Amino acid sequence: MPDFNQRIIAPSLLAADWTRLGEECRRAMTAGGDWLHLDVMDGHFVKNISYGPAFVQHVRRSVPEAFLDVHLMIERPDQYLQDFIDAGVNNITIHLEPEYDTGETLKRIRDAGLSAGLAINPATPLNKAEPFLDQIDLLLIMTVVPGFGGQQFMEKETMPKVVEACQMRSLRGLSFHIEVDGGIDGNTSGIAARNGANVFVAGTSVFRAEDMATALDAMRQS
Ligand code: DX5
Ligand code: ZN
Repeated sequence: MPDFNQRIIAPSLLAADWTRLGEECRRAMTAGGDWLHLDVMDGHFVKNISYGPAFVQHVRRSVPEAFLDVHLMIERPDQYLQDFIDAGVNNITIHLEPEYDTGETLKRIRDAGLSAGLAINPATPLNKAEPFLDQIDLLLIMTVVPGFGGQQFMEKETMPKVVEACQMRSLRGLSFHIEVDGGIDGNTSGIAARNGANVFVAGTSVFRAEDMATALDAMRQS
């Protein structure tokens, strides 16, 4: 069962130097990253195209022990699910917004023995995710409009949803992580933590930091 009192930092490989992928994965883990976050984008659900299952397999081979947190920003996660399960990842997060059978897809993730995540965009109200809360291990409340790294943290639009999600979780006696993703650094992680988030995804502020360990430590202490 997810321990949502534990603070988890998940460096996002979107901002890593892909010419040295294996090295970057190991660097993030050695510097104090807890999970590695992988952003899969299809050019339909979001404007950008990033990478797919083959890339994820390379990551798995370079860090066999790491907890791989896959964030699928794709129109049909149901059609590509098995490829990511086969790549040996640990968590798969799917978005609520596209049209496919969300409940069935979450069930397939858990049936494969993985942690199941559900993500909502800044414009999506939390009540749309409510019917699925007992089927998830992680709720990802996007803190930017997904598609690109390096954007600004949308505090006003998203923090009320983090608070609301915490309330719903305790009211219903559920247990899932609350993850934030987008514009997270040593300052905004503190804001999100105070509102109730416990998993922090960060790309730019980690991989472009002068010293990665210091950047991760700032996030942990914030
Ligand atoms: C945004 C992605 C993020 C991204 C975060 O679409 O989901 O995971 O890598 O990047 P930063 O930390 O640079 O905002
Ligand atoms: Zn992400």
